[in-house]
Amino acid sequence: MCTKNLPYFLSGLVVKGFGRGSKDLGVPTANLDDEVVHNLPSDLNTGIYYGWACINGQVHKMVASIGWNPFYKNEKKTVEVHLLHKFENDFYGKQIKVIIMDYIRPEKDFTSVEELMKAIQNDIAVAKKQLQQSDKITYKDNAFFTE
Ligand SMILES: Cc1cc2nc3c(=O)[nH]c(=O)nc-3n(C[C@H](O)[C@H](O)[C@H](O)COP(=O)(O)O)c2cc1C
Repeated sequence: MCTKNLPYFLSGLVVKGFGRGSKDLGVPTANLDDEVVHNLPSDLNTGIYYGWACINGQVHKMVASIGWNPFYKNEKKTVEVHLLHKFENDFYGKQIKVIIMDYIRPEKDFTSVEELMKAIQNDIAVAKKQLQQSDKITYKDNAFFTE
């Protein structure tokens, strides 16, 4: 696993995904536009990451899935961000800024949706814990989010 590109800063537009995140998993994800996907550093491994994301001028903790969602056998690579905050509305078409801080684990296939949900809940717990560290908190106020 190569982390020399981390933290990785990206900015993109929220587009429609397959709509399973909220329905199947109770974990709504903001899918980012194709340009973000194409511009990813070639040595940024697919997998699950945590970091910070800014939408509507507010910065929240996030977990992100980068890759092909082997459980759903997607044919297209995606970057999906789940913000650890409850929103009233969706944000299709909005700009989102993301700082990917670090890697959690590779994407996996699972034998049931329940297993995938359990793994995601664990990712969220890891992200919450890691983002409390002072070297990670400082990025919440990074100028990238306000410029
Ligand atoms: C924190 C997190 C971890 C994830 N881990 C996996 C995984 O290990 N395997 C997988 O196939 N998909 C994984 N996903 C992707 C979900 O399958 C995906 O978000 C869901 O299918 C919703 O996609 P959609 O919005 O395009 O419908 C993960 C998503 C998140 C937010």
